Parts: sequence; C-alpha cells; structure tokens
Amino acid sequence: MARYTINDRMSEGFADHRDETRTQIQRLKDVFAALDQPAEGQRSLTPAGLENNRRELEAQIVDDDLLNAASLNPGLMTERVEMTAYEGLTTIAALVDLGGDVQHPLDSTYDEAKSRFRDLELLWDRLSPS
Ligand SMILES: [Fe+2]
Repeated sequence: MARYTINDRMSEGFADHRDETRTQIQRLKDVFAALDQPAEGQRSLTPAGLENNRRELEAQIVDDDLLNAASLNPGLMTERVEMTAYEGLTTIAALVDLGGDVQHPLDSTYDEAKSRFRDLELLWDRLSPS
C-alpha cells in the first residue's frame, strides 16, 4: 500500500506498518513454536470465517469462561471491523458531499456498531483476568 499512495506521510506510515507487521508475524510464529503448535493463517476475517473459527474452538473447549471468551472475541473483532468500515464510508460520503440520505444511515449504522462494541467490551471485561 505504501507505493500506491501519493501522500508521502501515508506512504511512510504504510511502510512502517508493513515492517511492524512483519515483526508481529514473527512474534506470533514464536508463540506457536513455544506452544509446539503449527502456525496456521486465518483465511477469513469475515463474520462467516470468524463464526467457523468460533465453532471449531467451541467443539474443543469445556471451560465456561474460555467458551465465553471464544464467543465474544469474534464479536468484538467483527464490530471493530464494522466501526472502521463505517467511519471510512461516512468520511468519504462527507468528502464527496453525498447528502443526508446517504450520510445519516451510515452514521446510524456506525453508532449501532459502536454501541454493540461497547456492550461486548463490558462483557469481555468481566471475563478478563485483571
Ligand atoms: Fe455489528
């Protein structure tokens, strides 16, 4: 992405992020190695892909807190993605002046995703050891 942007600051940011991501990937590979497990990529971060992952985990987990965490995590991920998507869409809609018929439904959807995310975060906080 760094080479496809015409904004130098964005290009530098994408390049830094790329390098950081490489380090993060290596760190995750180290974690899997420490667990003596294969490091397999997640092919889909779509809601359907996350639901498949949740179902696979559910079949292997017997502890209730772990099961709740395994269910909540994809929900949190989905809402974060939705929030980011709607933030971008509302910004773009405003930049090209698409008007209230476009802007308002996008704003409402963003607000709902944000509200849902906060609800899930509260549930998550009750699960997470502090
Ligand atoms: Fe949602």
